[in-house]
Amino acid sequence: MVAPDERFTRAPKYYAVKQHLLELIDTLQPGSPVPTERLLTAQLATSRTTVRQALAELVGEGRLVRRQGSGTFVAEPKVSWPLQMTSFTEQAAATGHAATTELIEATREKAGDAVAERLGLHPGGLVHRIERLRLVDGTPMALETSHLSAARFPGLARLLKRGDSLYRVLRDEFGVEPVTAEETIETAVASPREAEYLQTDTGAPMLVLSRHSFTAAGEPVEWVQSWYRGDRYRFVTRLSV
Ligand code: GLP
Repeated sequence: MVAPDERFTRAPKYYAVKQHLLELIDTLQPGSPVPTERLLTAQLATSRTTVRQALAELVGEGRLVRRQGSGTFVAEPKVSWPLQMTSFTEQAAATGHAATTELIEATREKAGDAVAERLGLHPGGLVHRIERLRLVDGTPMALETSHLSAARFPGLARLLKRGDSLYRVLRDEFGVEPVTAEETIETAVASPREAEYLQTDTGAPMLVLSRHSFTAAGEPVEWVQSWYRGDRYRFVTRLSV
């Protein structure tokens, strides 16, 4: 058994710098600047690399933001969304924000075995693969790839061209409403492509939500993977016995 003090002395050097910065952040308003790397290096009598590592972790955790050319600032609080059976558009509206969507790519392709099984199709059945960038108040927040049966939802890609809500189109154009889903959450890091769309850094932490949704009759509707910026989102669920 390791004594607490012994464990603490083995903590990496940058960790003490990070704790110091966390205490500082707690006293500041979102948008306030934090001291420069150079100043922190001098103040804390440590190396620039150590300060850089502490700052990088705090950026990844969504406590600080870097603005090119102007410095590092205390981040705005994360967006807090409940985990529930709503659409991105509805969820943004429910928290007083406006969602917009950019259609990146819509193709029709043969489903791989896993997707075909999830959507209740024969292996190789045709699916829509729709990739969209989701924005909240104009800021890119998530990158979403949805798979839906092409035979069941003809012309879906065209209907989504205007950046419309998928759930609204399913309801109004096809009379289909996903009402239950299995959703999983995993962590991942942004690839260069994802980082570019989401205006973040390659390697930035992401929360990947995968949703497999069904109608009230139990028919599968969609298989979707949504890559949310991990530094901007917190998902909340209510538990009860
Ligand atoms: C969320 C869900 C997706 C769903 C989408 C629909 O992002 N994770 O599974 O497809 O909402 O959103 P909208 O109707 O705004 O297009």
